[in-house]
Amino acid sequence: MSTLVIDRIGSLVTNDPELGAGPLGIVRDASVVISEGVVEAIEPSGAIADERIDADGACVLPGFVDSHTHLVFAGDRGAEFSARMAGQPYDGGGIAVTTAATRAASTEALSQLTRERVAEARRHGTTTVEIKSGYGLDVATELRILDVAREFTADTTLLGAHLVPHEFAGRPDDYIDLVCGEMLAAAASRTRWIDAFCETGAFDADQCRRVLDAGRAAGLGLRLHGNQLGHGPGVQLAVEAGCASVDHCTYLSDDDIEALAESDTVATFLPASDFSTRQPYPDARRAIDAGVQVAIASNCNPGSSYTTSIPFCIALAVRDLRMTIDEAVRAATSGGARALRRNDVGRLSPGCAGHAVVLDAPSHHHLAYRPGVHLIRTTVM
Ligand code: NIG
Repeated sequence: MSTLVIDRIGSLVTNDPELGAGPLGIVRDASVVISEGVVEAIEPSGAIADERIDADGACVLPGFVDSHTHLVFAGDRGAEFSARMAGQPYDGGGIAVTTAATRAASTEALSQLTRERVAEARRHGTTTVEIKSGYGLDVATELRILDVAREFTADTTLLGAHLVPHEFAGRPDDYIDLVCGEMLAAAASRTRWIDAFCETGAFDADQCRRVLDAGRAAGLGLRLHGNQLGHGPGVQLAVEAGCASVDHCTYLSDDDIEALAESDTVATFLPASDFSTRQPYPDARRAIDAGVQVAIASNCNPGSSYTTSIPFCIALAVRDLRMTIDEAVRAATSGGARALRRNDVGRLSPGCAGHAVVLDAPSHHHLAYRPGVHLIRTTVM
């Protein structure tokens, strides 16, 4: 049995209040002993193991849990982003551009592109990633995307209901029949989750409810894109359906916040999309103060958020969503785990996965204090 120790940690964020100080469970002058990829013990500095990483007084925290990505795609939409920065609005219509490029790409090419993006995410400290389909929008391509996603994660999500493809133009209900019928039947063994884009221009509440009901009947966990581009029914539908997470939540009414606070549904904020689409930032402060469980994720995709960097999202969450630094770090680790209904990641306590990030910094505060600086010295997993 091989063991690894991360030693001489100046400040260890465990996310386990039983192990250390405050809600982040911070332990000073610590070491983490990992055996066969699982945390065995948190000890004072100086623990012995077969292999050793010397943190040299730096901060160590759980690897980031990125609970919302669209990493499997081909093509580039840099020109769309550039036009947006010159004043064009974002309406999600560019999904069709990526769908055309993705349908045309070979599975091998999609796999290679995804491998590079996952490696980039690792360099930014992400150790757990959820990956959605949604740029195929036909049965064969959605299955190819899920097969690629499964090479990199167990948290795959069928997002057939991302946009009505051109061959179903004007017939969204017929497309939803396909998603809930043949597509779901073929995809069910390849996906843990099902998702839909509940927004004007994508799918309405009744169409999304059909997708969620069909997914539940097929034994899948439920997630929903909601309230990204305006106030809408997404959050209320997600709560009513028992979704693990409703993602975006850029526009939250008092009723939405009340419903979320009384539910088990995590509100997952995607601040890099609000940055890249020039949407207003959500009022995370109000949601957290009301008792809503929150996560933050990258939403890496070629249209609304082409970044894999969770540290960038943490900086935005602190500066513009008005989270405290502790809240933002928790939202990107144990919050993401909660959004994926995982209790084996997002914490560094005995029995959890030995997924950790060694920072080039003495404390987790630097993740927001030094925006744009690459602070990930080592990603351990
Ligand atoms: O989460 N909102 C829908 N889907 C993606 C955007 C996809 C795109 O523009 O390509 C999102 O922002």
